[in-house]
Parts: sequence; structure tokens; C-alpha cells
Amino acid sequence: LKLPTIGILGTGRMGRAVARILVRKGYPVYLGSRDAGRASDAAAALGAEGGTYAQAASRGEIVVIALEWETVPGALLVSAGPLRGKVVIDCTNPETTDGGLAVGHTTSGAEEIARACPGALVVKALNHIYAEVLDAGPHFGPQSVTAFLCGDDPSAKAAVTTLVGACGLQPVDAGPLQVARYLEPAAMLMVALVRRQGYPAGDVALALLRR
Ligand SMILES: NC(=O)c1ccc[n+]([C@@H]2O[C@H](COP(=O)([O-])OP(=O)(O)OC[C@H]3O[C@@H](n4cnc5c(N)ncnc54)[C@H](OP(=O)(O)O)[C@@H]3O)[C@@H](O)[C@H]2O)c1
Repeated sequence: LKLPTIGILGTGRMGRAVARILVRKGYPVYLGSRDAGRASDAAAALGAEGGTYAQAASRGEIVVIALEWETVPGALLVSAGPLRGKVVIDCTNPETTDGGLAVGHTTSGAEEIARACPGALVVKALNHIYAEVLDAGPHFGPQSVTAFLCGDDPSAKAAVTTLVGACGLQPVDAGPLQVARYLEPAAMLMVALVRRQGYPAGDVALALLRR
């Protein structure tokens, strides 16, 4: 079975953590950066390939957006075209510099990304899981980390369910893309626990209990 190539926009902490875990699982990964040289250096260290945002968007069969929120519109200007018809995983949080959310209530970062990328099959996922948790591994004793995901296209959600499942995370379909309005604040809860309450980033994650 040929695994899909994963394009990743962003070589920051999250982009590299997602790349590292997927390379380990055998996925071909193509990292994209503002600076193609930085992407190829980061990629070489991870066993992946690297280049520009536009190249990562073209090469990826599934594309992960792992960018700082303010930088998303600029990156999408050069990559929205190649994203048409593709599964796009939005793991961003629309964080403001003062620790708030730039959008919410009546829209979400994910819905704004979907609007900016006509034809892209956007799925919100991984936004509430710290990069350090991906690095440390998905298991907390007998439990694994829940990966809530939402999106409007069932086949895209199925592809993301397979991908996060392959990473050892426990996927939970939380509904349509609108549910990102709740998943983004959920990520900010994790940020508050780590930044203000002192929980180590690699040692806290959400898990859904079910009876
Ligand atoms: N870190 C986590 O644990 C975590 C977990 C879940 C979700 N997230 C979300 O993932 C996104 C990336 O977070 P991160 O922690 O990876 O951030 P980071 O380490 O600070 O990386 C910033 C990313 O934004 C890109 N960027 C583009 N233009 C930029 C500019 N002018 N200044 C600074 N950065 C610029 C960088 O891309 P280049 O490659 O082009 O430099 C880099 O990939 C955020 O939306 C965050 O909310 C992060």
C-alpha cells in the first residue's frame, strides 16, 4: 500500500513534530517554508524533503497547515491554488499576541482557511495536541491521546482519521467544520494549563471518556 505524501506548511515546532512522527510511520513528507533553504535543512534532519510553501502544497496529497495565525493569509496566497481538491489539515490556532483568539463564536480559523482555499477539503485536527506530546508519544499509560477532528467532507475526515490513527492517536469525529469554533478554544485551555499553570507541555493532553 502506497502511503500518501504529506505536505507541511511551516517548519516551526508543530510542523517539525508532525513531520517527525509521520516520517517514523513511513509517510513521505515534504516540508514547506518561507525560506526554502530552511525547509530543506529541517527536512534533511528528519528524513524528509523540503522547499517553498507552494512546493509543499503541490507535492502533498494531504497538506498540513502548521503556521502562526497571522502568517496564514500570506502563505495561502501562494498555496491556495495547489490545495484545490486536496485534504487540508488545519492544526493552527488563531492566537493573538496577548493570548486570546482572533476569531470565534460565529466563525473559526478553520472556516476562514476554508474560505480562503476554494475547493480544499479542510479538516481541523491536531490543534489541541502539543508538539511535545507528539514527540513524547501518544500513550499515557493505558490511554491514548484523543485527536478531535471536524470537517464537512466525509472522505477527507476518513483520510485524516487514518493518518492520526497511524500516529497512535485516538481519533474522534466531532462533526462539521463549524465545530472548530469549539476545538480552537479547547486548544487555548491546553495553552493556559501549560503557560499559566505550569503543566509540562509533553505531559498533558485531552482524552474523551465514554461510558
Ligand atoms: N507548538 C505546538 O505545540 C502547537 C500545537 C498545536 C497547534 N499549534 C499551532 O501550530 C501553529 C504553528 O505553531 P508553532 O508552535 O509551530 O509555531 P513556531 O514554532 O513559532 O513556528 C512558526 C511557524 O509560522 C511560520 N511563519 C511564517 N511566517 C512567519 C513570520 N513572519 N514570523 C514567524 N513565523 C512565521 C514559520 O514558517 P517558516 O517555516 O516559513 O519559518 C513556522 O512554521 C500555530 O497556529 C499554533 O497555534 C502549535
